Amino acid sequence: MERVKINRLLESQKPIDKVIVKGWVRTKRDSKEFSFMELNDGSCLKNIQIIADSQLENYSQIGAITTGSAVAVEGRLVESPGKGQKWEIHADKVDVISIAPEDYPLQKKRHSDEFLRTVAHLRPRTNKYGALFRIRSEMAYAIHKFYHSKGFRYLHTPIITGSDCEGAGEMFRVTTLNPTLENPNFSKDFFGCEANLTVSGQLSAEMFALALGDVYTFGPTFRAENSNTSRHVAEFWMVEPEMAFCDLNGNMDHAQELLKYLVTYAVENCSDDIALFTDFVDKELSKLLDTLINEEYARISYNDAVELLLKSGKKFEYKVVKGGDLQSEHERFLAEEYFKKPLFLINYPKEIKAFYMRLNDDGKSVAAVDLLVPRIGELIGGSQREERLDVLQKRLEEVGLSKEQYWWYLDSRRFGSVPHAGFGMGFERLLMLITGITNIRDVVPFPRTPGNIDF
Ligand code: 4AD
Ligand code: MG
Repeated sequence: MERVKINRLLESQKPIDKVIVKGWVRTKRDSKEFSFMELNDGSCLKNIQIIADSQLENYSQIGAITTGSAVAVEGRLVESPGKGQKWEIHADKVDVISIAPEDYPLQKKRHSDEFLRTVAHLRPRTNKYGALFRIRSEMAYAIHKFYHSKGFRYLHTPIITGSDCEGAGEMFRVTTLNPTLENPNFSKDFFGCEANLTVSGQLSAEMFALALGDVYTFGPTFRAENSNTSRHVAEFWMVEPEMAFCDLNGNMDHAQELLKYLVTYAVENCSDDIALFTDFVDKELSKLLDTLINEEYARISYNDAVELLLKSGKKFEYKVVKGGDLQSEHERFLAEEYFKKPLFLINYPKEIKAFYMRLNDDGKSVAAVDLLVPRIGELIGGSQREERLDVLQKRLEEVGLSKEQYWWYLDSRRFGSVPHAGFGMGFERLLMLITGITNIRDVVPFPRTPGNIDF
């Protein structure tokens, strides 16, 4: 007979004479005649209660079962008289698969996030992280579902690249040369030139948008930023749509539609897991999720945002500088306190944005867009792309990138160039937004940050 997962059993409409469940024991208590176990198999947040009669053949073995032990139970699914649960299993047979000794680290009901980071290999066995990683899985599926339904093609952009998309120089090198070489001769390296892990699939995605129309990538990206913040990791996932015949407004419409879809999907399809976060992690979360689903997101220019910040009278740790980058405290002020909802910030000064963004008619700003959200700040970064060959060539020169290296990128502007736009949404930041988790290390299975690659 096949094992049934607990989430399926709990949906049952009637008692079942014979079922087999397998999982890990969360808690156990013994009375004279019975043993009561809460069993979880990871299929859902809820446990199922197992009642084992002391008359069972191997009852002495059952006595040895501890928190964290793995068991297989054969028995009857019957209506539970207990509060808060519809079904329980009266065991006919309990097989001990393995015992977790007393030093199993997850004995308590609640542990701090800091502690759980030190046992990242075990934390998915807690309620909170089990829920989180189920939501992570569902959201990845929802992204594909959304794009598939809109006719976008899924593109696998390379992980190893020869170009720095963002031009920020925050890349991890890929090499087969002796790592102790101070001045490596890249012509002798594996690819015959310098190679790095990708910071974004955008440049490749643009080539395919100009062929297939609408495409998206969804995969790992890497940044050697030496910033130990609660919003940065060295390895993260990014969703990057790229759309031909699309301008900045179309780009924002699309981003808003995507985010509303994903939050709605989470609320509708992960309701039990989301409830854990609304009940125990962030009391304001339900309100925020409602806002994300129901409100129109604001749209405002960089210049107006800077004016707003300067006039706000708010004491920031970092000064607001006209023409400079906004800090996350500035972004959060706009989203959390001023607009109290997400906002698109557009038309940044060209000096603080990447070379590929379309130059506006003022010659000073570019058609960039960031989506800023409460509690996080930047969730999305994107732009309309520079489709004019001459302007693009000039920009490359200005920022000191070689036209020879980007020959293929420039080619796309020579042959059938069209207006196009896209953006990147950090998948981990999306999960933080949806769950109320405040440290990005807690939404990644095994986070990579400066000085930390333990697991
Ligand atoms: O704003 P970014 O740097 O944009 C790009 O890379 C564009 N090439 C994307 C595009 O237009 N196709 O990064 C996009 C998003 C950010 O808004 C943020 O959510 C996330 O990626 N992100 C990070 N998330 C976690 N850790 C990091 N170190 C991140 N860096 C960026
Ligand atoms: Mg950005």
